[in-house]
Amino acid sequence: MTGPRHFLSLSDAGGDAIAAMINDAQVRKRARVAWPKGKPDADAALAGRVLAMIFEKSSTRTRVSFDIAIRQLGGSALILDSGTTQLGRGESIADTARVLSRMCDAIMIRTDSHDKLEEMARHATVPVINGLTDRSHPCQIVADLLTIVEKGKTLPGLELAWLGDGNNVLHSILEAAGLMKFNVRVGTPAGYEPDPEFVARARAGGAKVTLTHDPVEAASEADVLVTDTWVSMGQQHAREKLAAMAPFQVNDQLMGKAKPGARFLHCLPAHVGEEVSESVFESEQSDVFDEAENRIHAQKSVLLWCFGLVA
Ligand code: CP
Ligand code: NVA
Repeated sequence: MTGPRHFLSLSDAGGDAIAAMINDAQVRKRARVAWPKGKPDADAALAGRVLAMIFEKSSTRTRVSFDIAIRQLGGSALILDSGTTQLGRGESIADTARVLSRMCDAIMIRTDSHDKLEEMARHATVPVINGLTDRSHPCQIVADLLTIVEKGKTLPGLELAWLGDGNNVLHSILEAAGLMKFNVRVGTPAGYEPDPEFVARARAGGAKVTLTHDPVEAASEADVLVTDTWVSMGQQHAREKLAAMAPFQVNDQLMGKAKPGARFLHCLPAHVGEEVSESVFESEQSDVFDEAENRIHAQKSVLLWCFGLVA
């Protein structure tokens, strides 16, 4: 017997399924232009399905996009903050997974520890989705790839520059690079590089990954520049870290090194004036709000993949 389709990482789906997700998201997005946001798609493909969402960390986009995504697919969602459930009082992940599997059709969890996500998946008999851990953020990257493709760029051979902290979002970008065959120039200060395991996997998949401590080298001739907060949830604000990050701010000077027509992405929330200048954030090259909206369309594809309805 095969188990449920968990989406813990982009590799769980693989390159072909991610391409199918991007395609499905575009088709569904086009079919409902100007519709009320809560109106189900014509096929209501997940009618009657209930998604449980567990949040151990704050969220705006992930919370709202999954809620609207499941509604547009004809289902419904319920939100569980760990502080107000028995998880917050020490009930095990294993028992929570088994109970929610009896009551709901899928579980999305945002947690401080990737181990907890894996524990949830081991014990759940319904699909488990990674809504961000300390290690990765795969749902975000499906939305990012959708946005890049919508802007007319082709993924194989794309030159993507990452500026700033070598964090969870970068890890999922590197995973995507190996699966979708694009190249990543990673510009971080010394000591803030991504986990070498993600770099090795991207390279093994055929992506060219350049690691540099020079922001100009990272940005030069890039098709897309991406950054994220310098201090992720659960991390301490350290003055030395912010000082080390300062030269990696995506500003007009760095955008000027990229290819003409280069785009700017940021998963949000942004700290304008830190990792990105206001001039770039508000510029015509910035796609951050298309990217945020695309969380809905991308998350619909992730849900459909989990239920075997995409690829
Ligand atoms: N980008 C993202 O995951 O946003 P939230 O933290 O608001 O969910
Ligand atoms: N790297 C950030 C992403 C937030 C969506 C964090 O983990 O806080």
